[in-house]
Amino acid sequence: MKLAVVGSGHVGLVAGACFAELGHEVILVDNDPARVTALQRGEAPIHEQFLPELLERHRHTRLSFTGDLAAAVQASRVIFIAVGTPPAEDGAADLSYVESVARGIAGSIHSYKVVVEKSTVPVYTSNWIRTIMLRNGAPPELFDVASNPEFLREGSAVADFLFPDRIVIGADTVRCATVLRDCYLPLAGGSYYLCPGAIPTPDQAQVPPPLIETTAKSSELIKHASNAFLAMKISYINAVASICESVGANVEQVVRGIGSDSRIGPRFLRPGIGYGGSCFPKDLTAFRAVARESGCDFRLLDEVIRINEEQRQRFLGKVRKALWILKGKRLAVLGLAFKGGTDDVRESPALAIVQALLREGCEIAAYDPAAASRAAEIITDQRLTFAKSAYGAAEQADALLILTDWEEFAELDLSRLHTALRYPIVIDGRNLYDPEKMAENGLVYLSMGRPDAIPEKRTDLNLKAA
Ligand code: UDX
Repeated sequence: MKLAVVGSGHVGLVAGACFAELGHEVILVDNDPARVTALQRGEAPIHEQFLPELLERHRHTRLSFTGDLAAAVQASRVIFIAVGTPPAEDGAADLSYVESVARGIAGSIHSYKVVVEKSTVPVYTSNWIRTIMLRNGAPPELFDVASNPEFLREGSAVADFLFPDRIVIGADTVRCATVLRDCYLPLAGGSYYLCPGAIPTPDQAQVPPPLIETTAKSSELIKHASNAFLAMKISYINAVASICESVGANVEQVVRGIGSDSRIGPRFLRPGIGYGGSCFPKDLTAFRAVARESGCDFRLLDEVIRINEEQRQRFLGKVRKALWILKGKRLAVLGLAFKGGTDDVRESPALAIVQALLREGCEIAAYDPAAASRAAEIITDQRLTFAKSAYGAAEQADALLILTDWEEFAELDLSRLHTALRYPIVIDGRNLYDPEKMAENGLVYLSMGRPDAIPEKRTDLNLKAA
């Protein structure tokens, strides 16, 4: 099938490459000429596993890039809108890009098209897209508007697209639902998984995935409600972690106990420094705005957001507990991205903590395998320097802080780390290590929701004594 994907950001680029992988002919449209040229040259502008391979595989055949929206619409049966929906000042989603694309599409419709919202948008957006298109001259019988939300996690977005837990299609007409079903047939019908070149099946993937058909409004709500629920799980476990600390329990043991209840499940119950990224913070405030506008006072969401923000303060409290005065301290920071496996620093709790520590007068040597240059664009403070390795960052530091869950941070050579640090103190916001093992290696170790670990015979490092 011929498809256009408008917007070559994270969602658009991954969706476009994956639709090409499924055998469709895809035109990716972007209004940034530099981005289009870079994509035509074969550059992958985001750090995403398998994306470079897919772009290379399909760039000269089924996947093309253009700035010409009208031509792409005319050539395509289905047009996916995947442009940004950043938060407006009041927290609601700013849908001006979506509106402008809808206007752009309207003028180029001469045969039946399905227009699909793939960006995360509030309920009623499909109605508005339809209205805007009609106002701009699109013939009503020649198009339908549908919702098909994406559940892509950064870092594993390609695998999430090709091996989804479910595919949600929100279509209000049979004709439109049929077209969308066809787009996903290689996944829902299972043929993709038999292809020799298919990307490796992730653990626990359910193939073929179920395809859930709903109305457009239900589909729009599914996306916001899913992300809010996942964020709620994280805030819930972070609040439980605080209680664990107060009473001397271990949150990892508690998670094992509650997560093994199949009604709850173990995923998204990792305590830490709070959620960040381009989706959860934005979607939570947007969903809260949707609820408010529809007359529902969804105060649970306020609490989820509050706990998340408090989590950074709790981490900073641990740094103070270990070091007392922060001014003038040299700290090693591992991780700037909002989570491991990505170079994205948007709404990164790690970056917020670094900024807070700089404000307190700390000097910071940071290491992140992918996000350093993006972080450097945001924080220009001279007291933040970037190291080439975890050990380089740790050199003569008063303490090491782990802020992002990169896999390589969980596999450090502890004796080398001990030698590099001025004081053997590790404050781990992601619970990457076993506290006992850290103490055995002579490290004072503070983590989230677990008892502090202090090496034997190091009374100078004993936090209680301090
Ligand atoms: C999320 C959703 O998972 C995805 O379905 C949606 O389409 C986009 O938003 P993403 O933002 O890429 O994906 O990251 P995700 O892996 O969900 O993590 C979000 C944040 O929560 C990160 O900061 C992460 O570190 C944090 N997190 C996640 C936790 O603190 N604990 C957990 O148990 C899981």
